[in-house]
Amino acid sequence: MLLYQQHQHTIWLHPQTAASFFVFDQRLLPHELKTVEITSSAEAASAISNMTVRGAPLIGVTAAYGLYLATLEAPQGGMDAYIAQQAALLAATRPTAVNLHWAIGEMCKAITSATTAADKIAIARATANQIKADDIEMCRQIGVHGLSLLRDIHERKQGATVNILTHCNAGWLACVDWGTATSPIYHARQAGIPVHVWVDETRPRNQGANLTSFELGQQGIDHTLIADNTGGHLMQHGMVDIVITGADRVTADGDVANKIGTYLKALAAYDNNIPFYAALPHSTIDWSIRDGIKEISIEQRHGDEVRYVTGLHNDALTHVRICPPDTPVANYGFDVTPARLVTGIITERGIAAPGNLKSLYV
Ligand code: MRU
Repeated sequence: MLLYQQHQHTIWLHPQTAASFFVFDQRLLPHELKTVEITSSAEAASAISNMTVRGAPLIGVTAAYGLYLATLEAPQGGMDAYIAQQAALLAATRPTAVNLHWAIGEMCKAITSATTAADKIAIARATANQIKADDIEMCRQIGVHGLSLLRDIHERKQGATVNILTHCNAGWLACVDWGTATSPIYHARQAGIPVHVWVDETRPRNQGANLTSFELGQQGIDHTLIADNTGGHLMQHGMVDIVITGADRVTADGDVANKIGTYLKALAAYDNNIPFYAALPHSTIDWSIRDGIKEISIEQRHGDEVRYVTGLHNDALTHVRICPPDTPVANYGFDVTPARLVTGIITERGIAAPGNLKSLYV
């Protein structure tokens, strides 16, 4: 997508050496655009755990390139053991988004299928590149399918603007290109359908305020930033036509784990008879589990993310405490929206009711 008028991906191999890769430091956006070079698998793991990169698809692709770097670093004769060790390091970075574990699994399968060190390096590089390319194409297809929902609303509203509410950042910054929840929006815009996006600020990390509003602005999409508690009010007053979020893990029965607060938006949407969709590639589906509330591990993060807000003050990135210093904090990163509140799931294969997700993959 466009970043200061240039088409960009969120992650790319060093074009000359292919011995490192580059990402943007998302912790600084939208205030500063800084490119970070990742030169080792350990650095890739740190970039995921400290949220230099974030978003389920992007952390999967980052882990894939991290394991490619692990093949370059591995001691002679000890490649498989080293890969297993670095795979475990990467897998331990964040527990909820399953794309991470999916990508690590794909990489380990590919690397162990080769015998010589040179072949393992070659297959690791090719597989990581393929995981990236597939993510781009899956996100594009999510947009092609999701466009039909926005077109229907547009026709029903006789050409009036379609109002979409989204939570967190499930845009191209969370993926490689297009995004998941944003892809139907970008496709609608290309199709000439007028769209407007309500952007939840998404405390505590403010991915909506910092990232979604930034990337929508960069693409020239009409949007309005709202405090997290605003969505229900807008829905009661007919100001939201559809809710589209991303997902970090979806169970075989269609329960959706996504950024904390998503469940409350789904409840409000249900109460107001507004369709609630989750948009995701197949790498976000965990076919091994069914009950998301019981079976999905929810990341708990440092309390300072809640105690402090971060923003620009006098041109400097500043952290400001908003409560007494020793206030006890609970900081759950994600919640689970049960399938009964989900109207449909948009994937690269099409749109299905949550209970019918499997039908897209047979
Ligand atoms: O903690 P993050 O920023 O990695 O979480 C990302 C999300 O939860 C997003 O909402 C998203 O829907 C999943 S990534 C497309």
